[in-house]
Parts: sequence; structure tokens; C-alpha cells
Amino acid sequence: MPLESSSIPENSHTAVNVLLDTAYQGIDTPTWAHLLAGARQSKLEQFIADLFAGKHVNVSENRPALHSALRNLHKTPVLIDDKDVMPAVAAVWSRIEALCSDWTGVTDVIHIGIGGSDFGPRLAIEALAHVTSLSSRGMRMHFLANIDTAELARIVKCAEAKSTRVIIVSKSFTTLETTMNAKAVVAWLKESGCNPGQIADALYAVTANTPAAEAFGVAQNNVYPFWDWVGGRYSVWSAVGLPIALQYGFETFQQFLAGAEAMDLHFKSAPLEDNLPVIMALALFHQQRTHGITSYAAIPYADALDWFPKWLQQLDMESNGKSVDRDGKPVQFSSPVVFGSAGSNAQHSYFQMLHQGTEIIPIDFIAVREPMSDRPEAVAHHRILLSNCLAQAQALANGKAASNPNDVYPGQRPSNLLLLPKLNAFYLGALLALYENRAACLGALWNINSFDQPGVEYGKVLAKPIEKALASHANDIVASEHIDAVTAARINFLNS
Ligand code: F6P
Repeated sequence: MPLESSSIPENSHTAVNVLLDTAYQGIDTPTWAHLLAGARQSKLEQFIADLFAGKHVNVSENRPALHSALRNLHKTPVLIDDKDVMPAVAAVWSRIEALCSDWTGVTDVIHIGIGGSDFGPRLAIEALAHVTSLSSRGMRMHFLANIDTAELARIVKCAEAKSTRVIIVSKSFTTLETTMNAKAVVAWLKESGCNPGQIADALYAVTANTPAAEAFGVAQNNVYPFWDWVGGRYSVWSAVGLPIALQYGFETFQQFLAGAEAMDLHFKSAPLEDNLPVIMALALFHQQRTHGITSYAAIPYADALDWFPKWLQQLDMESNGKSVDRDGKPVQFSSPVVFGSAGSNAQHSYFQMLHQGTEIIPIDFIAVREPMSDRPEAVAHHRILLSNCLAQAQALANGKAASNPNDVYPGQRPSNLLLLPKLNAFYLGALLALYENRAACLGALWNINSFDQPGVEYGKVLAKPIEKALASHANDIVASEHIDAVTAARINFLNS
């Protein structure tokens, strides 16, 4: 049901039927005007246009960040080096659709991938599990990310090997966790009596490195490509989102893309003062400068969105957790720490600190208007969930005086309320695209390149000689170029 403008609260904005209420940000009209003027001065509008036009906004890797093309269901041409990428994108959609109709007799899917190759599809599968109108084909969808074999052991305990399909998801197809887990799953298929033909039929890959997937043993026809202009953490819109289509149907996957596309169209065209991702970015930008905030929380009042904060952590902190700007100069501000979990559970954990701690931590309260199940208790429970959400925001904003200092709530703790009409594939897509676009805006305001992640590489490099030292079982390792004295002592302890 479209939102009626007469009932929209003050300080609120809507797009795609999603309501953003910033009333508790404590930002007055002149300050909003100042923030918007600053955004215009820093050429935010031009940045948004450049992002969608395929300009090389990822300056360090000299390429565009065009994940929006993956949800461009209208197939408006998107040019990279004068070539429209939409025919290639649409060809993958057709292959996904065909695969969905062909997908029979499958009891288990093991989706192997980590980081951006895991969070998005895992979040979507969980978030949509409550939608009673969606059938899940009675198929188990397992996610295998960690190199720790606990996850693997749990999965193979309940999966039926002969009717299992394996999707190896890795943009680079070089990620150690993913390739080692893929080898372990192939070994399990063999141990379970699958012959080479059956194994070849069971293996699928989603990657931007097709040769590596084929070299691994995935048949050419089973490789679903995506492209280097799609960042790993922005890849759920590509065939990385295959589990969504396989589990809930191609239509549902398209609805997910449609919600994101609608949010993109809003982001591209709405004036800054009505633009949800921009307003959210400016609010955080302001709180950081005014209160020196170093963290913020995203609290979805929907159990189905419990994975959302984890997805958001990678999005925000991998995108904008940087110390230098696009020109390599030091920056004063960049991504705060992001954390969160489903409300009202979160209230019984760290909300004490949010109310009375010494730090101000802005919060995004994310609520859903409709109850989340068809249980007879659903309406009553949902009312309590919403009351809790509204009450927490009010208490945080207004505080409470008391004669006993221990009972004082200081208040002035800023928050947003985001209200989705319901939680289905469409609004999930809109929600994720809202946050992706917000992260891009924040990057632009901080003048940070939000589309690379050089900071994740060094640890991976150091892990290699350390792994070698652990494998040697020696307990007399001494400090060397890649292993310092502290780590050498730890290795010696582990090896003794
Ligand atoms: O190490 C970080 C990272 O590169 C993320 O950016 C990415 O989402 C993840 O690893 C997985 O990478 P890939 O999809 O190439 O396996």
C-alpha cells in the first residue's frame, strides 16, 4: 500500500514506500540546509551521476563500480568502454531462469564462498525464509564460508551426497578458504560414492575468473560469470545471488533486483534533500563531526534480518574503513565501527551502554510494518516488537532526569527510524541498495574510494610463512622477515 503523504511524520522522507524518519537526529532546519550545501559543494550530485554512468570511481583499481547494472531490469544501456554490458547481464539472468526450471531432485545445495560471496545470499535466504507464500522446494541450502571445519562437518552430517549440488562462489577464485573448502566438499562427494561424472554434474561456479573455475574442474556450462566492475561486497545482485533464485524461484530473485533497482532510480534522480541514501549519509557525517562518534549500530526489529548487521559490517567497513583519501592524503574521518543484531534481543544485551555509556552511538532502527508470520500470536507479538522499537528510540533521544545519578538517562542520542511496509524480496532489495548507496555517499563526502580493499591483503600474505612454520612442527622458530618475535614464540608454543 503506497504511503499517504498526509500521514507521513514530520522530518520524514519516503522512497519506494520505505519511510526514513530522522526526527530523533536532533538536526535542525538550518543545520540540514548547511549539510546539504556542503554536500553540493563537495559535488555529491556529480559523484552520483558518475557512479551510474560507469566512470572509473574506483580510482585505485581504475575501474567503474557498476553493481547497479546487475539490477537494471529495464536494461537501460550501461556502457563500459563504449560497450553496453546489459546483454551480458541479461544472458546470465536467462541462464539462471533456465537453471531454476531444471533444478529437480536436489535435496541439498552447498554454497561455498566467503565475505561478499557469502553474506548477501546468506542474508537473503534467511530473511525470506519467513515469507509463507514462498516455497523453498523442500531443499536445504547450506552456507560454507569458514576454513574452520566445524561448518563443513555440520553440513556433511545432514546432506545427501548423491542429490547435493555445490556452488563455488568466488570473484577471484583464488580465495584460500573457498578453494580449500571446495576441495574438501569434492573429497566428501567422492568418499560418499559419487563417481567423476556425478561430481562434475554437481559442481557449479560463480566467478569473475572463469579459467580458474574450469581449471578447478567445473564444467564450462556450469560457470556463471560476473565481472571485475562488480565489487565482491556488492555482488549479491549477480549470479552470486543464485541461491535466492534456486531456493525461492527466479521470480523472487527478480523481485529482489526490482526493489534494488527502484531504490537506485530514486537515488539517481531525487534531489539531495529528499534522497534517502543522501540524508542517511549526511546524518552520520554530521554526528561524527559534532559528537566525534566512532561507532554506530543498526538494529533490525525483525529476527529475519539478524544477518543484516553482518552484511552491513563488510559493506561499510570494507568500503570506507580507510585512512587516506582518493589522492592518498590522510583523512580525519572515515567509517565508524558498525555493529548490531536483531531487536528486541539487542535490548537485553548492549542497550545499557547505548542509553547510559559515555559514548554517543547513533542507531538505525529498522522496523517492518507487517507481522512476520501467520501464527495466531503474530499481531500481538508484532505490536510489542514495534512498541519496543519506538520506546527505545524515544528514551535514547529524550533521556530522563533522576535524583540518583545512576538512574539518569542523558538522552540526545541520535537515531533514524527506517520502516519497511513488509519484509519480502522487493523490500529486502530496496533496503540493501539503500545502504549500498549510503556507503557510496559517505565515501564521496569523506573523499574516500569506497570500492577497493587493500587493507585485507597484508594479513593474507603473512599467513603463508606462518602456516609453513606451523606445518614444520618445529618449536625453535626464530624471528625473520615475515615472522616477528611475538609470533615466533606463539608458533613455538603451538608446535611444542
Ligand atoms: O578478503 C576480502 C575479500 O576480498 C572481500 O572483498 C571479498 O568479498 C572476499 O574476500 C571474497 O573474495 P572472493 O569472492 O574473490 O573469493
